[in-house]
Amino acid sequence: MTRFGIVGGGLMGHGIAVALAVAGHHVVVYDADCATLASLDERVVRALGRCEMPPDDAGPVAARITAARTLSDMVVGVDAVLEAVPERLDVKQRVLEALEAIIPAMLPVWSNTSVLSLTEVAKGMRHPQRLVGVHWWNPPYVIPLVEVAPGAETDRRFVREACELLNGMGKTTVRLHRDVPGFIGNRLQFALVREALHLLEQEVCDPVTIDTVMRASLGLRWSAVGPMENADFIGLDLTRSILESLAPHLSSAVTFPALEKPLDAGHRGRASGGGLLTWPPGRGEEVARRLENGIRRNLVEP
Ligand SMILES: NC(=O)c1ccc[n+]([C@@H]2O[C@H](COP(=O)([O-])OP(=O)(O)OC[C@H]3O[C@@H](n4cnc5c(N)ncnc54)[C@H](O)[C@@H]3O)[C@@H](O)[C@H]2O)c1
Repeated sequence: MTRFGIVGGGLMGHGIAVALAVAGHHVVVYDADCATLASLDERVVRALGRCEMPPDDAGPVAARITAARTLSDMVVGVDAVLEAVPERLDVKQRVLEALEAIIPAMLPVWSNTSVLSLTEVAKGMRHPQRLVGVHWWNPPYVIPLVEVAPGAETDRRFVREACELLNGMGKTTVRLHRDVPGFIGNRLQFALVREALHLLEQEVCDPVTIDTVMRASLGLRWSAVGPMENADFIGLDLTRSILESLAPHLSSAVTFPALEKPLDAGHRGRASGGGLLTWPPGRGEEVARRLENGIRRNLVEP
């Protein structure tokens, strides 16, 4: 059993705390925002409810997650720390600097960055060899995958130990050979999002149609057979000839008018009530439920 400190108790921080606590670990969470910290217990209980854990089991799990009022309180007695603060290089670097001032030299430090370079995140660290990219997927207590990657200076021992711990709690870990922004999953995901926006910009279809295509075809296929296995399955010669025909037509854009237009009009998506789609009251909760239930239904052996 291990004791973790988590800096940042927002969406991912509290979800990762739940995943760790379900596996028997103790977790201390610190957040700079008092209201976020105050709502930690309630959010943990809600997450455990969504795990459909019987109350007799959920109680002890929730009791393993506690809130710390300061960063110094959070690090007392921990075996590893994880940062889940916002995806901004300056914020992460400042947090790591503050952490390193109060933790032992060789304590493992995990970063939940999604798309920042770990090597950049580690710049300014006194002991960059202990920083490991440990990228969870939301909800972390449901999605099996955790991507684990080194920065340029990371000691592979820390990478190995992170994988062992995560595998021991039933996670599916993949280990990247080197640091690339976006790990593997977000690179694949956002290559697809870029192409979807391109189709909107080319007036090929509307956003609802894109989601229908994904949910009724690729979303189903890829939960059973990954794109590499599928390339072999259909044949590499066919895969090559499809790509040779299609690749010149695919987007390589680095600006995204299909996003700029709604954003300029103040439409940020769910939070503002409108974005690519409309978000009447209640739709956000319905989507959150559908997301978790759908993922659970699709869970397959790796
Ligand atoms: N949202 C996702 O689906 C997802 C998935 C995987 C990884 N991530 C990554 O996880 C990290 C956190 O994302 P999130 O979605 O949980 O964001 P979030 O905004 O929900 O949570 C971040 C929390 O950090 C707190 N915070 C900010 N500065 C702080 C500081 N100096 N010290 C302590 N706490 C501080 C904020 O108050 C907030 O509660 C990001 O790096 C993000 O890219 C997000």
